[in-house]
Amino acid sequence: MATLLHIDSSVLPVSASASRSLAELFRATWLEQHPEGTVVHRDLAVHPVSHLTAAAHHAGYLDPARHDGEQAAAFAERKELIEELEAADAVLIGAPMYNLSVPSTLKAWIDNVVLIGRTALGAATLQGKHVTVVTSRGGAYGPGTPREGYDYVQNYLEGVFGMMLGMEIEFIVPELTGAPVDPAMAELLPLYEASRSRTREEATALAERLAARLGEAA
Ligand SMILES: Cc1cc2nc3c(=O)[nH]c(=O)nc-3n(C[C@H](O)[C@H](O)[C@H](O)COP(=O)(O)O)c2cc1C
Repeated sequence: MATLLHIDSSVLPVSASASRSLAELFRATWLEQHPEGTVVHRDLAVHPVSHLTAAAHHAGYLDPARHDGEQAAAFAERKELIEELEAADAVLIGAPMYNLSVPSTLKAWIDNVVLIGRTALGAATLQGKHVTVVTSRGGAYGPGTPREGYDYVQNYLEGVFGMMLGMEIEFIVPELTGAPVDPAMAELLPLYEASRSRTREEATALAERLAARLGEAA
C-alpha cells in the first residue's frame, strides 16, 4: 500500500490557487488508480514548520543520546518531518513562485529535511524517490520571454531534490496565472488557457503513471 506525501505552500485557498487545484487533481487521480493508497497532507501555509535553529542544526550531527534538553526538543520536529518524508513512496509539492523563488514556508521545510549524512549528499534514504513539483507563476519565464533566466524555483528545487537528495524530480508549470485577473495581461489569456489545459493533462497523466509504477513495485 503506497503512501503519497502531499505538501502545499500557496497562501491562497484551492478555489484561487493553481498549485493547490492541480495538486488536488493529481492526488484525486492517484487515489482513483490506487484506492488502497494513503495520502498524508501537510499544509505549510496553514501550519508552518519552525525555521532551523542552531540547536536543531547541531543536533542533526550528534548522537541523539548526547542531545541536551534544548537540542532534543529542537530536533524532535526535524525528525518528525524527515521520517514523514522517508516513509512516503512518492512526494507531491505545490510550490508557487513568490518573488522569483519558493514560499519561505517551503524553504523552512527544506532546511529541516535536508540533513547531510542521513537524507542528503551521498546518503541513501531518499535515493530514487519520485517528487512531482507543481510550480505556478503569474508570469512566464520560458526561453524567449522577457523574464527568461529569472526563475529561481526550478533550478533551486532541481538542486535540492535532485543533486542533494538524489530524488527523481518532475515539474508541472502552470504559467501566466495573472492573465485572468490583470487587465494589462489580457492579450496573454489564450496562452494562459493553453497552459491551464496542458498542466491539467500533465497532472492527470503523471499521477496515473506514478500510481501504475508504484502498483507494480508493490
Ligand atoms: C507574495 C507573492 C509573490 C509573487 N511573486 C511572483 C513573481 O515573482 N513572479 C511571478 O510570475 N508571479 C508572482 N506571483 C504570482 C504568483 O506566482 C501566482 O499568482 C501563482 O499562481 C500563485 O500560485 P498559486 O496559484 O498556486 O497560489 C506572486 C504572488 C504572491 C502572492
